[in-house]
Amino acid sequence: MPGLLIPKAELHVHIEGTLEPGLVFACAHRNGIELPFADVEDLRRRYVFDDLQSFLDLYYLAMDVLRTPLDFTEMTDEYLAKASTQGVKHAEIFFDPQAHLDRGVPMEVIVEGLTASLRTSSERFGISTRLIACFLRDKGPEAALATWEALQPHLDVIDGVGLDSAEVGYPPAAFAPVFERARAAGLHLVAHAGEEGPPEYVWQALDVLGVERVDHGIRSVEDAELLRRLSRERTPLTVCPFSNVRLRCVPDLEQHPLPALLDAGVVVTINSDDPAYFGGYVGDNYVGIQRALDLDATAVRELAAHSFQASFVTDEERRALL
Ligand code: HPA
Ligand code: ZN
Repeated sequence: MPGLLIPKAELHVHIEGTLEPGLVFACAHRNGIELPFADVEDLRRRYVFDDLQSFLDLYYLAMDVLRTPLDFTEMTDEYLAKASTQGVKHAEIFFDPQAHLDRGVPMEVIVEGLTASLRTSSERFGISTRLIACFLRDKGPEAALATWEALQPHLDVIDGVGLDSAEVGYPPAAFAPVFERARAAGLHLVAHAGEEGPPEYVWQALDVLGVERVDHGIRSVEDAELLRRLSRERTPLTVCPFSNVRLRCVPDLEQHPLPALLDAGVVVTINSDDPAYFGGYVGDNYVGIQRALDLDATAVRELAAHSFQASFVTDEERRALL
């Protein structure tokens, strides 16, 4: 079965990164916000990035149109509808609470809006979901702890915590206290590491934060001992090929380190990261990497199998999904 449609789980998608230009303008209009872009085409033309920070600047700017629960619900509905056309049966979705709280949007609005969509995702789209709240590492560990407090009334709908935003200069170890609290509350733990940052950040995510999966993690290829550790412990990497190229972490898909990671025995998964910005959804990433690296059907099946193994679904849920 081609990569586009093969049943898969998506484990690395920022819901705010699924906000398409059309919905940016629709929300702006509804909320009476004047945008610094002339139209949808003008916005789309700006989707050319030098690095992670240049992307984040536009990502945070565009999400300022999200003000009401309906905005969050429509964004999530659009993602799920699109994902369902690309073989996604299960999605573990990130959101960035601080990016909204800091603009004055209350946690209730964010969570109510997201969960209004997620609640009925299985019936409407055939996609089961998990929700992962990410801390913005460039806001620091104290702000992460305050965000953790703000999440307390909503822990019944939060399955895990993660760490994202600008990476270099913000090592994971500083976030040990908030990850310790999330672990004590029984939540799953993941963190972005080794996207732009060095292999040392991946070691810290594993040893200090105790994460179950590493988001991106591609710079692990620079450290043979780290590759052995990831392989031995079967700690998955959620790799995002289009993102890596668009943010210039990798020169092109043909030179993506995915084959080296697979050869080292790492449980690699393919994901979209911020599909509205990076030129495709998760199925498109499968097709792109399949073509660029000339992967055969067995390799694609292996990547899709990894996505379910690396997910947080129970064995029983997995059987029901496939
Ligand atoms: N890296 C870090 N933070 C992010 C990303 C990413 O690729 N996308 C959205 N937030
Ligand atoms: Zn990401």
